[in-house]
Amino acid sequence: MAPSQDLLARVERLRALFLDETRGDRTLGDYWRDDGDLAAYDAVLGARIGWKWDAVLAECRDRGLPRADGLRVLDHGCGSGIAARRFVRAFGAGSVSCHDRSPRAAAFAARALQAEFAGVPAHAVDRVDGLQPDVLLVSHVLGELDADAEASLRALIARSRCAILVEPGSRAVSRRLSALRDALVGEFHVVAPCPHRAACPALADAADWCHFFAPPGPEAFTNGDFVRTARALGIDARALPYSFVVLSREPVAVAPPAHRVLGRPRLDKHAATVQLCTAARLADTVVEKRTAPALWRTLKKAPAGVRSLPAP
Ligand SMILES: C[S@@+](CC[C@H](N)C(=O)[O-])C[C@H]1O[C@@H](n2cnc3c(N)ncnc32)[C@H](O)[C@@H]1O
Repeated sequence: MAPSQDLLARVERLRALFLDETRGDRTLGDYWRDDGDLAAYDAVLGARIGWKWDAVLAECRDRGLPRADGLRVLDHGCGSGIAARRFVRAFGAGSVSCHDRSPRAAAFAARALQAEFAGVPAHAVDRVDGLQPDVLLVSHVLGELDADAEASLRALIARSRCAILVEPGSRAVSRRLSALRDALVGEFHVVAPCPHRAACPALADAADWCHFFAPPGPEAFTNGDFVRTARALGIDARALPYSFVVLSREPVAVAPPAHRVLGRPRLDKHAATVQLCTAARLADTVVEKRTAPALWRTLKKAPAGVRSLPAP
């Protein structure tokens, strides 16, 4: 069935707000007009964010981040609650608190969690001042915060045992996330993506930024409603750029890779040039088709599967 005009109009309006480059430093007001906005967001833009979370949580699992059964999870700036639902599905939880400056969004997110995970208590909270979550989730919020709100978020992260922040893969927000990571890294272990605890080398040159591309879930191609809606809106479901950082007070079981692949490989007929994060700097390494044909093919067809390569 063709997507309803109401759904399309709601998602268009939200996208226009998120993508508005004329906004500058002005923060957005509360844009959730009713539950219909949250449901429309969740079905389309939230689905894409869910796939980014799947990629982040898979990397956390590979680094040995333990399950969260019994732990207190807080989704800060929860919107429709997609981040918390993906986290609970992958890692479990003892309880989930949903916070948003929009009480409507927090209530929606808590209801959506209860509908999917009846055994995990979920509730909306209107303040986070006194909270000390075991696991803090922050998803696509940083770009909407003014300096005071970012300072509050930083204090909240500092009160958390583990914090997972997933943001868009844009240069501006990613660099803001790297700066936040640098301010906090002395107090935490970095679970991912950083292979080191040195200052973020992506901040050294204004042209660089730390970002990745998540593969979409199979629904992006098999769910007819999603496919038709994305097509009608001109949304490219294959392009899922994101930035992220995962901080933990406790060390995790698996050592980080020596170097982390960033962005997308630049491909030509003979080679793939890949940007790596190392403690000292960002560095390009070249994978030649002639000498490493299988790796070159993977970099061409499924680059997200290659998180690490030796430095040049
Ligand atoms: C782009 S939405 C992302 C929602 C959700 N986390 C996700 O990833 O789908 C940003 C959310 O942050 C909330 N928000 C913005 N500023 C906030 C603040 N100062 N405190 C709490 N929530 C805030 C908005 O109301 C909105 O729900």
